[in-house]
Amino acid sequence: MHVALTGATGFLGLRLLRRLLTTHPSLTVLTHAGSGDALSRITRFFELSGAPDALVRALPGRLRVVETALEEPRLGLSRTAFRELADGLGAIWHSAGSINLEGDLAHLRRTNVDGTRHVLDLAAAGRHRPAVHHVSTAFVAGARRDGVAYEDELSGVHGFENAYERSKFEAETLVREWSRTHGRAVLVLRPSILVTDLPPHPDLPAHPLQVIEQILRDSLRTTGHQELPGTDRPRMRMVGHPYGHLNLMPVEEAADVMVRLAESAAPKGCGPTVPAPRDAAPRDPGPEAGAPGRAARAGVTTYHVVHHHDVPVPTLVALLERLVPLGLDLVPERPADATPLEALMDFYPGFTSYLRHRRRFDDTRVRTLLGARPSGYRVDLDHLCAGLLRGRPVTG
Ligand SMILES: NC(=O)c1ccc[n+]([C@@H]2O[C@H](COP(=O)([O-])OP(=O)(O)OC[C@H]3O[C@@H](n4cnc5c(N)ncnc54)[C@H](OP(=O)(O)O)[C@@H]3O)[C@@H](O)[C@H]2O)c1
Repeated sequence: MHVALTGATGFLGLRLLRRLLTTHPSLTVLTHAGSGDALSRITRFFELSGAPDALVRALPGRLRVVETALEEPRLGLSRTAFRELADGLGAIWHSAGSINLEGDLAHLRRTNVDGTRHVLDLAAAGRHRPAVHHVSTAFVAGARRDGVAYEDELSGVHGFENAYERSKFEAETLVREWSRTHGRAVLVLRPSILVTDLPPHPDLPAHPLQVIEQILRDSLRTTGHQELPGTDRPRMRMVGHPYGHLNLMPVEEAADVMVRLAESAAPKGCGPTVPAPRDAAPRDPGPEAGAPGRAARAGVTTYHVVHHHDVPVPTLVALLERLVPLGLDLVPERPADATPLEALMDFYPGFTSYLRHRRRFDDTRVRTLLGARPSGYRVDLDHLCAGLLRGRPVTG
């Protein structure tokens, strides 16, 4: 089955691409038009993440790059190009999107909701009824801060912490409607916050937690705090729960779990699985082989792609204190006498609310399908620091 992937230059998309190339001889990457040379960015990731030379050299021959604009009808392609693209596909992985937690709803809707609609149009147009694997987020659970979020739930009753969550919720709602209307099967994959211990590098997509570091650094600068050796660290009170916890999932593991879930959902006896050594190029069985659209039961199946341990909020506070020259104190409510630095946090509601979270994501479906899978990764302060700090001095 020939597979297309959106978002292949992204933090997750690059890992999905690398994982998919272990079982697919060639892939079509639907890249972001006008956003830089996708093939070079992909190649750079493979080099920096230690891919074998042979695989790096083979990339131009194994990847077909099609430039697209998610927010445009037909992904910005001509009618003919759209039709030809659709007819050649057996599956579409939709990983592109905006993950801007502080973004405005109109912009996020264009990328995440309209973008999903246009990808679904591509799937609807395809002669071989390509399978759809939609990357959502566990955070469609919204502003529900405790209890358990289940995989079959999709409800906006708790509201949302930010416009990003709302846009991803709306995109999932759209996917459900589309599946019902078209009688098609869709996998919805909901990862939690993705992290890596691959050292940061200017040529790699930003680690999602780097955004928080940037916000804190900008806030320090705006309020006139300077990073001078020997000066005291300013202290800042942040609203958070001392027993709060968040789920952080290593992105490499998330990509592996997602691809295994998609393979398990495909009808037996067909599909891409030619036994192959990791990163080698397998045979291509053609676009129609293994396309679950025909054989798989219609409907949406949703999976929480999460780590089996949550990370305690105090560990995240310790991480932030390593990243920025700040002392952080968790407090239950916003202080009435907020300092200018603390008051600035009001402008970044997108992330600060997560320090109050105590909910868990149930992943019974994933464990039922793939078996109990104690993670090969321990997500702790060391893991997080490796992906954010290596190569520069630790603060404090
Ligand atoms: N990162 C996380 O912690 C996390 C957690 C849960 C779920 N997710 C979901 O996982 C998916 C991938 O996230 P990510 O972390 O890989 O994000 P990312 O690093 O920001 O990458 C986003 C990808 O989407 C592409 N893209 C953005 N706007 C586009 C447009 N208008 N047209 C075409 N392509 C466009 C980007 O291309 P350019 O780079 O060329 O702009 C990039 O390849 C998203 O759906 C996100 O909601 C992410």
